[in-house]
Amino acid sequence: MNPLRVGFTYDAKADYPLAPGDAPDKYAEFDSEQTLSEIVNSLKSGGHTVDRIGHVKSLLKRLVAGERWDIVFNIAEGLHGRNRESQVPAILELFDIPFVGSDALAMGITLDKAVAKMAVRHHGLATPDFVEVLNESDLNNFRLKYPVIVKPSEEGTSKGLSHDSIARTFEQAKEQALKIVRQYNQPALVEEFITGQEFTVAVIGNGAGAVALEPVQISIMGNVDLKDEFYTHARVENNDIKYLCPAPAGKKLLDEIRELARGTYIAVGCRDFGRIDIRVDEAGRPYFLECNALPNLGLIDVFPLVAKAEGTTYEALLCRILDHARKRYGV
Ligand SMILES: Nc1ncnc2c1ncn2[C@@H]1O[C@H](COP(=O)(O)OP(=O)(O)OP(=O)(O)O)[C@@H](O)[C@H]1O
Ligand SMILES: [Mg+2]
Repeated sequence: MNPLRVGFTYDAKADYPLAPGDAPDKYAEFDSEQTLSEIVNSLKSGGHTVDRIGHVKSLLKRLVAGERWDIVFNIAEGLHGRNRESQVPAILELFDIPFVGSDALAMGITLDKAVAKMAVRHHGLATPDFVEVLNESDLNNFRLKYPVIVKPSEEGTSKGLSHDSIARTFEQAKEQALKIVRQYNQPALVEEFITGQEFTVAVIGNGAGAVALEPVQISIMGNVDLKDEFYTHARVENNDIKYLCPAPAGKKLLDEIRELARGTYIAVGCRDFGRIDIRVDEAGRPYFLECNALPNLGLIDVFPLVAKAEGTTYEALLCRILDHARKRYGV
């Protein structure tokens, strides 16, 4: 295929210095310079030229000045609220510019965990029972089985998750949910906690051609039977978490996990690439937790491990993602 002139939209940590009083994790989702150059170099290895555009406001300025690209590789997280990831895709659609990754609607569906779970359930796929809580009255008729986990409905990067997030009584669940609502100014998702194993699965491609790649299994402090342990920022900082790929779990379970990942990716309308988080209960049943339509594509995350397990390279995998998008548009 011909080399392309690829625009690259992203939010770089360096573009957003923290102001006094900001939470230290305010911009945790944004990408490091290291990750950005790894992506640029990968796309260049496919023969493409890459033009770094940056965040949504730089994109707007350049579009208004008349600049255009063959395609835009978008990993911009955006700013403010649950439509933040939709900003760049909506603008690119307005200007009729082909882009890599999910459109504005799929970004919105997946960023709002409750909406994503409703879409998944509508397709008959398994996800833990939940309630979305904005006011205390949302907890009337509470019927979830304990323990439950309480998390912000519209955040990522484990924001709002700590050992207080698991609740074993109604009072604990209520207290934690109202705390999350106050702190993050958004609904809290109260969800049945799945005790057992955890996986994250990269999916690439589109529609019937979507493929779930080798699942990655999470180990915490050397165990894959996680029991009540779960993924938090503190666990990552302490190096307690390891990604295992190929995953040590049995083939039958891994096949079921891949099928669920692929089904949920299609259910929420992802395009080109995404990453699905799945927990497996003690009876071996997999459940969808959330879909990341903008997973971290850097070498520090799971994509290089997945590439290796798939018998390819990290650089080639990123070029494959770009190729899925150009096939959609025929560029
Ligand atoms: N229902 C659940 N049962 C068990 N563990 C859960 C559940 N929901 C969340 N977790 C744990 O909390 C972690 C973070 O939750 P989730 O993936 O929903 O949030 P996130 O902050 O968007 O994640 P990411 O860091 O992938 O962006 C999961 O990886 C898992 O370890
Ligand atoms: Mg997650």
